[in-house]
Amino acid sequence: MTRHFLNLSDAGADAIAAMLADALDRKNARAGWPKGKVDADAPLAGRVLAMIFEKNSTRTRVSFDMAIRQLGGTSIVMDAGSMQLGRGESIADTARVLSGYVDAIMIRTDDHAKVVEMAQYASMPVINGLTDASHPCQIIADLLTIIDSGRALPGLKVAWLGDGNNVLASIAEAAGLMHFDVVAACPQGFQPSDEDLALGKGRARCVASPHEAVEGADVIVTDTWISMGQAHADTKLDAMMPYQVTPALMASARPDAVFLHCLPAHRGEEVTADVIDGPQSLIWAEAENRLHAQKSILRWCFGQIG
Ligand code: CP
Ligand code: NVA
Repeated sequence: MTRHFLNLSDAGADAIAAMLADALDRKNARAGWPKGKVDADAPLAGRVLAMIFEKNSTRTRVSFDMAIRQLGGTSIVMDAGSMQLGRGESIADTARVLSGYVDAIMIRTDDHAKVVEMAQYASMPVINGLTDASHPCQIIADLLTIIDSGRALPGLKVAWLGDGNNVLASIAEAAGLMHFDVVAACPQGFQPSDEDLALGKGRARCVASPHEAVEGADVIVTDTWISMGQAHADTKLDAMMPYQVTPALMASARPDAVFLHCLPAHRGEEVTADVIDGPQSLIWAEAENRLHAQKSILRWCFGQIG
């Protein structure tokens, strides 16, 4: 059975726990090594990962590229606009052709149906590198960052502020799987769908008040107010302003609360500079953990974990 990683539930709670443990072990085992040095066991030697980008990326692109290299494999990185995909060749045909060349595909696109179709026609693992619906790879890195900061996931309160978007959908899904609670505070018109909240299996809810969301929270998370593919709208920015993560809002959370942001960030919009660059922010560890998380996702896809 080919293992696709389109959403967190494709792996499930036990495999995610195993992936997080593996990521931590590998991260610690190569601490201080040059970034390009291959892990001692080179578990994906001879494997090739192809990446297709229909949207911009810095972290996902470079972390997956370095992840497969550190595991002993190699990568091919393509922008969809320079492929025949960009001239109308179908996802199904692209999937079948690439299945003859490479061992796994990671795709970042808009419509989630495209990654589902890619998985349907590929005879190798397909990884969702972000769609308009979800961003599961990001959330493995976020969970890794929380664990690496000394916190256990079960029973945590995570507060989400701002737009009810793709990243929140994956956090809600993680909450249901890993038994923590998510309280999102989002303005009217930008709340997560009932389907997205249902991914939390009763552990994800949305409120109107930012203070209610952050009250006693262990982790505060936000994201850009305008996601890729969305038009810039002043009306949306105005609606979001009361949900900006500020020092005052952080003060309502637990004193040891940490701040996460998947990046790229817009200081002065979804978060103030003194919070994102302040002592409670774990954003640089979170960004680095994308690399360690991708390695475990790849190893799970190849049947080496879980
Ligand atoms: N967080 C994240 O996915 O970053 P990129 O868009 O740079 O890949
Ligand atoms: N919600 C953002 C995440 C970027 C990593 C977007 O979809 O653009």
